[in-house]
Amino acid sequence: MFPSHRPRRLRTTPAMRRLVAETTVRPSQLVLPMFVKEGASEPVPIATMPGVVQHTRDSLRKAAVEAVQAGVGGLMLFGVPAERDAVGSGGVDPNGVLNVALRDLRAELGDETVLMSDLCLDEFTDHGHCGVLDADGNVDNDATLRVYGEMALAQAEAGAHLLGPSGMMDGQVGAVREALDRVGRTDVGILAYSVKYSSAFFGPFRDAIESQLTGDRKTYQQDPANVREALREVRLDLDEGADLVMVKPGMLYLDVIRAVAEISEVPVAAYQISGEYAMVEAAVANGWLDRRDAVLETLTSLRRAGADVVLTYWAAEAAGWLR
Ligand code: PBG
Repeated sequence: MFPSHRPRRLRTTPAMRRLVAETTVRPSQLVLPMFVKEGASEPVPIATMPGVVQHTRDSLRKAAVEAVQAGVGGLMLFGVPAERDAVGSGGVDPNGVLNVALRDLRAELGDETVLMSDLCLDEFTDHGHCGVLDADGNVDNDATLRVYGEMALAQAEAGAHLLGPSGMMDGQVGAVREALDRVGRTDVGILAYSVKYSSAFFGPFRDAIESQLTGDRKTYQQDPANVREALREVRLDLDEGADLVMVKPGMLYLDVIRAVAEISEVPVAAYQISGEYAMVEAAVANGWLDRRDAVLETLTSLRRAGADVVLTYWAAEAAGWLR
């Protein structure tokens, strides 16, 4: 009798498929990135990310509580300052928009969720780069590390549980770890953006934070052509004290997530970025994809590739579906 092997037997019913599913997506594995805009009196929709807004202090608090009630595992905060300068002072200032929002959410949620903060200068600089510039206009790696150290202290003080250095400066994890340890904040962890590619798919995010960048980040973010370099970045970050390592973007880099998962000694996160969100939402808006099925398939793929944690703009909604 042919065929004698019938894999379809394991696909016959929903119950059978559930029984043999290798990959699961749980709400607690999802992290919601959120934007808060200084001085906003109403939430401001982000045109290129339909459904995502720049929050006011109040709407942030409310949406954060709702996301936590829906079951998400954590929140990642980004600030949109009212004013910017060459050195990104707003990121270090305890009264800067991001630090104020962290304080609000820590007061509201305590340890009920894991509060994370983007630790980078691009939101706060008037030139839009992730670091400070030298006299020739190049990003000054080591001068930037000193500012990251100060930002780390401000964010820890404001209540972040995990800091997310995302500027791709050499030594950023070590610099942040050392700054925290020096003042006794050994309790605050580091979610290292270890592998971050110079991606065209960050486009909508730059609208979300009203980025001032002209040009690109190719001298500090990685070349999409390389994977060996990604593994080196991970090893360095582990050595410098990363508590989790992250790969970003997500869907275009599933092979990199897999490779990182195979060598990492710590949990691996993947960031499903703004452009990934925008692509799916645009197709859905055209009636070209089924929204829920498409979203859940992307999340399953990231988990299957090896991500323990997924940062996604669909986190709260997906958590609701998955409960
Ligand atoms: C840098 C940062 C970026 C994102 C997260 N942190 C943008 C960049 O490197 O240009 C992108 C997130 C997204 O696209 O959703 N602060």
